[in-house]
Amino acid sequence: MKQKIVVLTGAGISAESGIQTFRGAGGLWNGYNVMEVASIDGWHKNPKLVLDFYNLRRADAANAQPNLAHTELARLEQKYDVTIITQNVDDLHERGGSTKVLHLHGKLREARSTQNEQLVYDIGANAIELGDICEMGSQLRPNIVWFGEMVPLMETASHEVSQADIFIIVGTSLLVYPAASLVHYAPKTAQKYIIDIAPDEREMKRIPNMHVIANKASLGVSQVVEQLMNG
Ligand code: APR
Repeated sequence: MKQKIVVLTGAGISAESGIQTFRGAGGLWNGYNVMEVASIDGWHKNPKLVLDFYNLRRADAANAQPNLAHTELARLEQKYDVTIITQNVDDLHERGGSTKVLHLHGKLREARSTQNEQLVYDIGANAIELGDICEMGSQLRPNIVWFGEMVPLMETASHEVSQADIFIIVGTSLLVYPAASLVHYAPKTAQKYIIDIAPDEREMKRIPNMHVIANKASLGVSQVVEQLMNG
């Protein structure tokens, strides 16, 4: 029986692929009002502004390549049962080789009907414009979880974390809920790692069996994967 590894990732793991993080220097939210472009209220007020925002991010993500952190996490599957839980909406984990990826906040390459959320379409890197409709004739929207909306995969994600033998956190500020609460679902006995260029060491050291690695994702993840593959 393979040991179970669960990984929680955020924007920091895609930073070295050239995709902007949200907070901190050069963060996406420094240039946009998050509630205008990433909330359900913003969508109702000005859907074109929201569509344009995600069209830009979708194009950026399609031009980005997975980095060593993504591919090293995929390498863990040779020895472990690995579940990636990501807050990211890019598909770099999948393109990096991971086969079990839960997207808590949705996926840039998917559009969905505004009439029936079960109607989801893979649009790759294509734009969504006003007037693009689903098979029922309703406007398409990004298949993204916006502020003010429920996180449908949260129950699945918290169950996964509660079963982890090893829990790894990579590149997230742990400021957005409910995703950030996943940290508290990991068993006390689980071996834990947090990899971040600026981890909150004081906070993290309060979590049992937590190893804090202050480094960029590609180096920190490589170091941990090397230990787990050859330890
Ligand atoms: N390597 C490792 N960590 C990094 C790197 C890097 N190269 N660059 C930045 N980081 C770290 C930062 O120190 C920070 O802890 O990544 C984290 C990025 O934090 P945020 O920008 O807040 O991104 P994230 O935690 O994913 O945001 C969560 O907020 O706006 C919403 O839905 C959006 O999913 C997103 C959620």
